[in-house]
Amino acid sequence: MASDKPIEGLTEAEAEAELARLTGIIGAANTAYHAADDPTLSDADYDALKRRLIGIEGRFPHLKHTDSPSDQVGAAPADGFAKVEHAVAMLSLSNAFDAEDITDFDQRIRRYLGVPAEEPLPYTAEPKIDGLSLSLRYEGGALVQAATRGDGTTGENVTANARTIDDIPTRITGAPQLLEVRGEVYMSHPDFETLNETQEANGAKRFANPRNAAAGSLRQLDASITRARPLRFFAYAWGALSDPLAQTQMGAIDWLAELGFATNPLTRLCDSPADLLAHYARIEESRATLGYDIDGVVYKVNDLALQERLGFRSTTPRWAIAHKFPAELAWTRLEDIDIQVGRTGALSPVARLHPVTVGGVVVSSATLHNEDYIAGRDSKGAEIRGGKDIRKGDWVQVYRAGDVIPKVADVDLSKRPSDTEEYVFPDRCPQCGSEARREPGDAVRRCTGGLICPAQAVEKLKHFVSRAAFDIEGLGAKQVEQFHADGWIREPADIFDLEATYGSGPRQLKNREGWGEKSAKNLFAAIAEKRRISLPRLIFSLGIRHVGEAASKSIALHYGDWDTFDAAMRGARDETGADWQELIDIDGVGAVMAGSLVQTLAQEAERASIDRLVKALDILPVSRPDTASSPVAGKTVVFTGTLERMTRAEAKARAERLGAKVAGSVSAKTDLLVAGPGAGSKARKAADLGIETLDEDGWLALIDGA
Ligand code: IVH
Repeated sequence: MASDKPIEGLTEAEAEAELARLTGIIGAANTAYHAADDPTLSDADYDALKRRLIGIEGRFPHLKHTDSPSDQVGAAPADGFAKVEHAVAMLSLSNAFDAEDITDFDQRIRRYLGVPAEEPLPYTAEPKIDGLSLSLRYEGGALVQAATRGDGTTGENVTANARTIDDIPTRITGAPQLLEVRGEVYMSHPDFETLNETQEANGAKRFANPRNAAAGSLRQLDASITRARPLRFFAYAWGALSDPLAQTQMGAIDWLAELGFATNPLTRLCDSPADLLAHYARIEESRATLGYDIDGVVYKVNDLALQERLGFRSTTPRWAIAHKFPAELAWTRLEDIDIQVGRTGALSPVARLHPVTVGGVVVSSATLHNEDYIAGRDSKGAEIRGGKDIRKGDWVQVYRAGDVIPKVADVDLSKRPSDTEEYVFPDRCPQCGSEARREPGDAVRRCTGGLICPAQAVEKLKHFVSRAAFDIEGLGAKQVEQFHADGWIREPADIFDLEATYGSGPRQLKNREGWGEKSAKNLFAAIAEKRRISLPRLIFSLGIRHVGEAASKSIALHYGDWDTFDAAMRGARDETGADWQELIDIDGVGAVMAGSLVQTLAQEAERASIDRLVKALDILPVSRPDTASSPVAGKTVVFTGTLERMTRAEAKARAERLGAKVAGSVSAKTDLLVAGPGAGSKARKAADLGIETLDEDGWLALIDGA
């Protein structure tokens, strides 16, 4: 029966029937809960049905109903927007800062695609608008949903707000049945000035810059406030589509313009990196008179078939790059140096500055990186800033580029007061008093207190609840700090005991200052919801040094479920064994990361804390929707010899997308060798081991359609 079938296995007809069934049950449950105040389903059952609905809609976006319960505000947290899973992830762009980065970008793409230097490879170049991105979903020409980027996978449903923006058509004609238009919401300079004057006249807060004003205006729960704000929109990209828009980026943009969207008039087609740089210079020159904020120029491969071949890294496309404008600078007084202790114990010096405006934002603190940086040395001992050290009381230059954390870049010795002293970096943790040690080769001094250090414990908890980790609604950095200070939450597992301990009795959450019946109930519900967690999120949330979001995904994908992962990490304690080798063979996992992972999981206190946590959770194994129909999922493939229809990098990326593991050498574990002309010892070894060998055409035929 379709109702029990895993989403990956559903046919289109089954999916349609299942969506209708789920919509019916969820709709009835909503009415019972909201209108009749008499719930018919437990929260867990309701959530499971809703997750299934969203999962099916994610796999068959065109089957999604315009009135799907997944978009309904009724099910949203009372104080926020409903969440929207993006049918196609909303990614960010990698950055370039100078001409060399741009020639590197062009060469990287040529290498990947195998396009020789003498062949033309056109790009588009257009301003990078400094606003916030928005995805507009049109079905049958009608605007049915608008969603913010959020974390790229899940955004906020701001449909009612988007409908109030003049640049956003609510109906379009001639478009594909399904079209998601993406672009930037922004506010012009004159509109921003007027808005701030009005704000001031009304005794309301001024906005720091047009981007904040645009974001604050779009994200209003009351759309009539958004309507009163002068927002604009430029279209520059697209998400899910039922039919291709065009064959080129430029063609697609032209078509969006024909459909009635505002597109940026400074978009140009360029033939070479030199051409891109020339257009960059033109845009930079006109920056001050454009009337809206831009923070760089975006370059995109023009040919959409090539974009498709280039594909994506974990969070950015390979076929585009943002060439940022130089950072902005300002001078101010360094009032003090504070030391912050991070989640992995790192002691980070922070400059407390006399407030100064840098690029439209008031800055009062900035990073000083580490003790060498303050002393005027780099991590290898070579002089930086001509060897000038930085002291309390100094006149310092602050640098800020886009979203990057501001940093102290330089110091003016001619303005140094006579009574300053060289800064002495602490060798004890300012939070727990433990020794702060600097290991050879490490630029950073670290507190050795581990979990006994309150700063490390709190930072670990903040990381645990952060957006890319457990992302618990209502439990942010501030709440974690308070709960930790009062001893309510000392380690992650305590979060899941919160309701049992503080849900009733003399010390109840609802009686705490700042909490009430409803907010306490909401928090417990939000925590309960996150007992079910995906393996990649769980691994990332552990906050292990060097193990970031992308690595957590690769590791989770490789091992599939918690028990397999955990057993492999125990096995990998032996660095000469197969488990260790398997771990460092995972793409993106090196020996340093592997060492950190294995050692952390082997530490007694960490181990106890993680074991307690895991008991409280329902860990979802990794599902591999992309590889469900893949004939090479889980297989180990080796490429050798010359490939003629694609480059090695492209072949590897494509195989990995299909769930294969690509290894560099042939062994008994190899399932398949793809051998082009000139294959030598690897082909012989494969033949000796009786491993299946295909030529390039055979390989392409095998994966065709997958
Ligand atoms: S293309 C797959 N083009 O910059 C990536 N992005 O730093 C599609 N942005 O999240 C993005 N102007 O919000 C693109 N002309 C432009 C843009 C632009 C501004 C924003 C966008 C994106 C961010 C990445």
